[in-house]
Parts: sequence; structure tokens; C-alpha cells
Amino acid sequence: MSDIRRAAEILKRGGLVAFPTETVYGLGADASNCAAVERLYRVKGRPIDHPVIVHSGDAERAFAWVREVPESARTLAAKFWPGPLTLILKRAAHVGQFVTGGQDTVGVRVPAHPVAHALLVNFGGALAAPSANRHGRVSPTTAQHVRDDLGADVDFILDGGACGIGIESTIVDLSRGAPALLRPGGVSVANLENALGAMLTMPDAGAPRVPGALPAHYAPKTPVRLVGSGELDREIATRGSRAAVLAFGVPDQRVDYWLRIPRDPEGYAHRLYAALRELDRAECEAILIEMPPESPEWSAVLDRLRRAARA
Ligand code: TXA
Ligand code: MG
Repeated sequence: MSDIRRAAEILKRGGLVAFPTETVYGLGADASNCAAVERLYRVKGRPIDHPVIVHSGDAERAFAWVREVPESARTLAAKFWPGPLTLILKRAAHVGQFVTGGQDTVGVRVPAHPVAHALLVNFGGALAAPSANRHGRVSPTTAQHVRDDLGADVDFILDGGACGIGIESTIVDLSRGAPALLRPGGVSVANLENALGAMLTMPDAGAPRVPGALPAHYAPKTPVRLVGSGELDREIATRGSRAAVLAFGVPDQRVDYWLRIPRDPEGYAHRLYAALRELDRAECEAILIEMPPESPEWSAVLDRLRRAARA
């Protein structure tokens, strides 16, 4: 039996399967099976009132989980699905509270990764799938990361190599009037605003809760400090080999653990989580990260760096 078919069989029996998407690896369970989703929450260590994204093979199946599909959702789906975009919409009556965290909305996404797509088609239903890491930690971008984090708690891991994008999907809330950005990610705000012909609003206090939007998230165990390029030398002079460094330039001899990261936002995002995991393993006093430019193309990366630093 092929790995995809084996994985689909496990899901049909209520099991947990980790699978690659173009953003990060997801930990999937049958989105209509309450017991399976409950086990998913236990394995992840996720509080039960935090909703999960429902993944489907195409837009029509995704919208079957939604009770009202506004024009804006059709526009964004036509342009960005399959792809790294999650839409928050009012949930259909049949959608279990166990995937929505008790909210009246549901997050839906159609992933673009060929393995994720093949799995969804073979399985035939929809998959509730958070990132396949323990709650609050760095998302996995390889099958080995999933094994390191979740090991035997997962019934099967589909290995699709390293994820292309490397950070999570953009989340847009279309359930409450004006489209609101809940999490920057794989699709840029500029491209979304172009497609909508309107600006995205930023979330207000009444907006739905997004754990990925909690200040401390996506965090290694080692404390992270973001430093401007000009301060890096001084920080290294103070900490020397007690610091691990993620920077754009060539290694400094005073530092034992130094990783270089590309200067473009796509290359940076692709490398980021694997780099954080690697530097975390060095068990230094701190991970120093040279700050990228504060420009819009960098907003998703900056968001993840700030959350990693606030843990
Ligand atoms: O790229 C991604 O989105 C990856 C891959 C696996 O698809 N998934 C992912 O899932 O990042 P997770 O659970 O780690 O983050 C999903 C975020 C959470 O912050 C969750 O609160 C939010 O989506 N979310 C899901 N449903 C929601 C809803 N109904 N209302 C508000 N936020 C929601
Ligand atoms: Mg996550």
C-alpha cells in the first residue's frame, strides 16, 4: 500500500497523521471525528478552546464547512487557493465545537503541497490540522522536526521533505465585516489588499482569539534577543561563546554557534524554523538574532521573530 493510502486509512480510523504542507508540517485528524480531534489536542498540549484550521482538497469542500460565503471569500479563494491562506468564516451548523474552540467561526484552508493534496483526496474528508509541534513551540518544517517533537504520539508521519515557504499561512478574518488580518504569513498583505481592492484592518479587542497571535509563541527554549546590526558586535563582545547567533554576515570567531540566513524574506522564512531549532540545541545562554529590515515584505518574518523573543 502506498504511504498516502496508508495515511488515509489511519485517518479514517480516527488516527493522527503528520503531513507536509507548503507552509509547515501539520498534525492531521479527521475534522468530523470528535474523539480523534480530542486526541490531537492532547498530543499537542493545546488548550481545548483554541480553534484549529480545517484543511480541504478544494474550495468547494472547504466552503461546505461555512454557512455564509461572502464575495470576498470567493475572491480570495479563487486567487490564493490552493495556497498559504486561511480564511475565518461563520461555521456551518454541522461543524463540531471541538474544531472551532467553541467559537461561531471556522478557519478553512486548501493547502498547495502535492502530498497534502493527495492525502486529502485519498482521505475524502477534511483534516483538522494545527502545526505538528507541541503547543507554543517552533513549528516543524521537516519530518525529522515532527519526529523530534511528537515521536511515538503520532500514528504516521508522511515525509515530503522540507516545506517550501517555512512559516505558517496568513490568516484573514472575513466573519465580522471588514476583512481583518489575524496573522501575517505566506501570502503578503499587499497581494491580499490588491485582490480585495481594500485595506485589511488589524484585529481589535473583540476579535477572535488566535494562539498564534499570543505574544509568546513559535519560541525556542533558549531566550531569544533581537539585536540591530549595529548592536551585534557589542552583544557578542559581552556574551562571547555563551551566545548562539543567527545573522546575515560571515561568522565571528568569538562565537561557536553561528548560522547565516539569507537576506531576502522568502529565503529567510524558508530557513528560519530549522535555524531556531538548531541554535536551540546548542543550549547557549541566549540566541541573538540580527534584525531584518522593518519593511512590509518582512512583516511575517518580523512577527515570528518578535513572538520567539517574547517567550
Ligand atoms: O500554515 C498553517 O496555517 C499551518 C498548516 C499546518 O496549515 N497550520 C497552523 O495551524 O499554523 P495552528 O493551529 O498552529 O495555527 C492556526 C491558527 C491558530 O492561531 C488558531 O487560533 C487560528 O489559526 N484559528 C483557527 N480557527 C480559528 C477561528 N475560527 N477563529 C480564529 N482563529 C482561528
Ligand atoms: Mg502552530
